Amino acid sequence: NNKPVIFSGMQPSSDSLHLGNYIGALTQWVGMQQTFDAYFCVVNLHAITVAQDPAELAERTRATAAQYIAAGIDPDQSTLFVQSHVPAHAELAWVLNTITGFGEASRMTQFKDKSIRHGADKASVGLFTYPILMAADILLYQADTVPVGEDQRQHVELTRDLAERFNSRYGQTFTVPKPQILKETAKIYDLQNPTAKMSKSAATEAGLLKILDDPKVTAKKIMRAVTDADGEIRFDRETKPGVSNLLTIFAVLSGRTVESIEREFEGRGYGDLKKALAEVVTDTFTPIRERTNELLTDPAELDRLLARAADRANSVAQETLNTVYDRFGL
Ligand code: ADP
Ligand code: NA
Repeated sequence: NNKPVIFSGMQPSSDSLHLGNYIGALTQWVGMQQTFDAYFCVVNLHAITVAQDPAELAERTRATAAQYIAAGIDPDQSTLFVQSHVPAHAELAWVLNTITGFGEASRMTQFKDKSIRHGADKASVGLFTYPILMAADILLYQADTVPVGEDQRQHVELTRDLAERFNSRYGQTFTVPKPQILKETAKIYDLQNPTAKMSKSAATEAGLLKILDDPKVTAKKIMRAVTDADGEIRFDRETKPGVSNLLTIFAVLSGRTVESIEREFEGRGYGDLKKALAEVVTDTFTPIRERTNELLTDPAELDRLLARAADRANSVAQETLNTVYDRFGL
């Protein structure tokens, strides 16, 4: 088919996806799967760049795939697969390692941030070369577009540089992909620390809204969200980051404008806004959680589905890898 290709993925390194993943990635993917030939990957090889418990990783890999499907990714339409099921990812990454400069890799700011978090000496070499594996993920499928958050812009730039370098040294081999950076409104902040993005790597889970949380837990986290002393329900990212984040979430999930929500809650307290928001969030999460749990009751069926997708991914990826090996005399 002639549809443009997209590739995107998430790490199975948490027991549940969170609201940031849902708004910033999943819902956007669902909206793109008809117009694109879409590859959605559970990137478990990326997850092991920091130590994982093996049994937990296997479980989380399935659970992540189940959440993709439950949120609306159609496994008949999109290729939803697990990275380690396609050996070409690791093989192409190795080849790309050999054309990446050490200095070039050292300029990746996410590694600097993460290695500070893990302790510079404890960070693995895998964490350092992570962006090169990501380049392999994208280039294997000749992706035209990579929908990512702003934090991934530099990695997609590296991917473009490597593709162009490879093509000019060894002959036209790779499509040079473009990042599709998702708009700022798609950025969700931590409920307890509303100037930091909501992330599974936050120090505490109190500000993290997880798709698979019990609705009571979700409601409690929202009721305890940090706001401010001013008491007015008004969007102002600079001076009222907590309230603004709640309004953004409300607007995105309800399909309403921030202004109409401000008007509805004019003269009312934060408690009222939070109660209404808790309902909107749990109404969004409940069907996804239920469908996820349903899918997880039949892991064999889920595995069959993932194996079928891996077959499709393998045939495309292997073709690219064969060309690369030919070009290199391998
Ligand atoms: P995390 O930061 O929790 O580790 P990932 O880095 O695995 O999340 O991100 C997976 C996808 O979800 C990426 O496309 C990323 O841009 C998106 N994403 C993650 N956190 C947020 C957020 N707070 N707001 C919007 N999108 C997010
Ligand atoms: Na991350």
